Amino acid sequence: MFPNTVLLIGGSGFVGSHVASLLAERNVRMVVPTRRRDRAKHLILLPMVDVVDADVHDPVQLARLMHGVDAVVNCVGILHSRSGQPWGRDFERAHVALPRAVAAAAQAAGVRRVVHVSALGAADNAPSGYLRSKAAGETAVRASGVDWTVFRPSLIYGNGQCFLRLFASLLKKFPVMPLAGADTRYQPVSVRDVARCIVHALGSEEAIGQTYSLCGPRVYTMRELVKMTGRAIGSERCVIGLPGPLAQLQALALELAPGPTLMSRDNLRSMQVDSVCEAGCSLPFGFAPAILDNEIADCLVDFRPTDRFELARSRAHR
Ligand SMILES: NC(=O)c1ccc[n+]([C@@H]2O[C@H](COP(=O)([O-])OP(=O)(O)OC[C@H]3O[C@@H](n4cnc5c(N)ncnc54)[C@H](OP(=O)(O)O)[C@@H]3O)[C@@H](O)[C@H]2O)c1
Repeated sequence: MFPNTVLLIGGSGFVGSHVASLLAERNVRMVVPTRRRDRAKHLILLPMVDVVDADVHDPVQLARLMHGVDAVVNCVGILHSRSGQPWGRDFERAHVALPRAVAAAAQAAGVRRVVHVSALGAADNAPSGYLRSKAAGETAVRASGVDWTVFRPSLIYGNGQCFLRLFASLLKKFPVMPLAGADTRYQPVSVRDVARCIVHALGSEEAIGQTYSLCGPRVYTMRELVKMTGRAIGSERCVIGLPGPLAQLQALALELAPGPTLMSRDNLRSMQVDSVCEAGCSLPFGFAPAILDNEIADCLVDFRPTDRFELARSRAHR
């Protein structure tokens, strides 16, 4: 049976917001806790959404959030953490302690259904703290006794927000593009597809106790993705794959640079493994996946040349 009320943790984020839109279309009531209400203001406009300021790491507040809820979706994830072994303490908090606490609080409150968003490549022996901590979070959810479903997406794109935007802004600024992990392979998946799988799982008995990889239909190397981005915004550049030690140096420099972290050495370690699905696998539940080639222009719409001068320059590859 489809839940009437869902606790959507991480609902203010990229994936969470798309899940919220789909649940709103189904008239499902949602509670969306957030650390910063201003980040969730786009959700306040949705019918049926109750955005609440809450610290989900606090067991008392978490227990309170479970009241009157039929299911929980956890979309919390971070890309960067202070370093540490076997993973940094920010990864421990967001990827391991939180899913464990969420599943335990759900179990204690009699909320049977928990859908957890992890990442493709999560494994105990993965090269990065990000992927190892994601695996530990999955393990905690599976061990909790709730009716769980785990999703493992590859890179996610869509609706003006995607990883390609970082490349787009660099391609606009620099004449060549030095690239770490240029040959790592990805199977980017649309955020709409990720959201509809999550929502479908909430009403599906067959999804209970299952772990699903979520991938788009095509495999691209990172180099191909950057090249595609260049073509889409009219700024085609020479892409130079960085060898190991130079890639390390670049990641260290970006990690230590002031401002928001764009990349870290841990991200680079994640790139040691391909983020692709097993042969033939794409989306579960018989859903047909969107194709990045058809959607890339929408992702990068505000990077495309606008005036005649800019168009002429881009056609001349300058
Ligand atoms: N985007 C991708 O390409 C990608 C690929 C593979 C897997 N994933 C996984 O998919 C899930 C959703 O990713 P996303 O792209 O939607 O992420 P996002 O846009 O960065 O959103 C993350 C959400 O998590 C919350 N959050 C972050 N750190 C938190 C913390 N320490 N404590 C409590 N809440 C915290 C944020 O809530 P507030 O700031 O409002 O509190 C926000 O709503 C994550 O598990 C991510 O690891 C994403």
